[in-house]
Amino acid sequence: MSMSDQALVELAFTMLERSYVPYSKFPVGAALECADGSVFTGCNVENAAYGSTICAERTALVKAVSEGHRDFVRLAVVGNSEDYCWPCGSCRQMLYEFAPDLTVLVARANHEFVRLSLGRDLLPYGFGPLSLTQQEKS
Ligand code: THU
Repeated sequence: MSMSDQALVELAFTMLERSYVPYSKFPVGAALECADGSVFTGCNVENAAYGSTICAERTALVKAVSEGHRDFVRLAVVGNSEDYCWPCGSCRQMLYEFAPDLTVLVARANHEFVRLSLGRDLLPYGFGPLSLTQQEKS
């Protein structure tokens, strides 16, 4: 039995305190569930060279892949703001590589969340591994 959507969201909320956000002061937490039920958490990690910052979702993704997990089924991404904490374009793209059908739970400060599909809702017409096999012969 996998955990409820709300439980995955709550796990992501526990990661806000791990965020390293001296520049934006905008903590983000993530929890990425794999097909076997394992869950990898993440937080955003900023840097004085701002562009080197890593988002919470990509922290979770890279932790998972580096531990041998690629079969992602559900992601929770949460923030402390009034609006939902929408995953950025780079995170959508990185997730699409492994899981175009990923279910994404996007939460806001009051712990309400929306449930979306990565490929259908957040990154339609995405570029993925299959796109690279569609090359015309020259
Ligand atoms: N951030 C994330 O962690 N995930 C997203 O998808 C959106 C943005 C972080 C990056 C940065 O530390 C802060 O939010 C403000 O952009």
